Amino acid sequence: MNIETSLERAGYETIRGWLEQRCAIHYPEHKRDLLHQRLSRVQRAFQLPALSQLAAEVTDANNHEIQMAVIHAASTNHTYFFRETDVLEHFRNNVLPILKNRREIRLWSAACSTGDEVYTLAILIAETLGMEALSRTQILGTDISGPVIERAEAGIFPARHLEQTPDHIRSRYLRPVGIEQFQVTPEIRAACTFRRMNLKSYPYPFRKPFQAVFCRNVLYYFAMKDQIDVIEAIADVTEPNGILFTSVTETMRDMSPRWTYVTSGINRRTGAGG
Ligand SMILES: C[S@@+](CC[C@H](N)C(=O)[O-])C[C@H]1O[C@@H](n2cnc3c(N)ncnc32)[C@H](O)[C@@H]1O
Repeated sequence: MNIETSLERAGYETIRGWLEQRCAIHYPEHKRDLLHQRLSRVQRAFQLPALSQLAAEVTDANNHEIQMAVIHAASTNHTYFFRETDVLEHFRNNVLPILKNRREIRLWSAACSTGDEVYTLAILIAETLGMEALSRTQILGTDISGPVIERAEAGIFPARHLEQTPDHIRSRYLRPVGIEQFQVTPEIRAACTFRRMNLKSYPYPFRKPFQAVFCRNVLYYFAMKDQIDVIEAIADVTEPNGILFTSVTETMRDMSPRWTYVTSGINRRTGAGG
């Protein structure tokens, strides 16, 4: 028997709508059980007996701590070093040679979770252009979730995040710091900065444009309208001819005239003034 009361259903819908409006995270009907489970964890942590009360804390009471907990619980943070190597190969073979002689290398990993992608990019630069290039490199990692940004800043990862990392790379750029735990070396960490930031809060507050932006494995959690708004806002902070990398499963073909589709997961910012 379905014992969900109309009050609980309304609570669920309130939080679902709030999540989409506040941070673009869209839960379609077929993911209802997943969001329910995730919200139950927050309810238990804050000892709230009903979903309707959680909804009231999130919306009416504007309880920042609970809001952050709901956002963290609702997001999927799965990530690892050297994810989707086809896209990374394109970055190494086609973008890095162009950036080689630039005075500053500026990259943004939007929705970086625990920072694995950020550190992967710094390692690729060290390997391809040499350690010297890291001193003129700034890689910014941002995510809406505070706990993942704290973990990214610490730069300590369990071995399972490194399963796709070649052994020689692991021994060169990561140091054991505990049982099955590894920390990124200080030289790599020095090129990387992390901030909490909501992709839905545009225009984005960057003074200088990026040469490449990685926004991977997040757009498919957003409704189409938000996907378009986000990639347009990213275009505003990307150099003409700069590259936006998405996951190979997130196609941007025909989504915005500001981006020219190159191939799966790779899009070029349409020329000057575009
Ligand atoms: C699956 S992880 C992707 C990590 C990494 N980019 C990768 O491809 O491995 C998705 C991340 O998007 C973040 N996220 C979800 N909505 C967001 C938003 N509105 N603004 C910023 N980050 C968001 C989540 O917190 C989560 O850490």
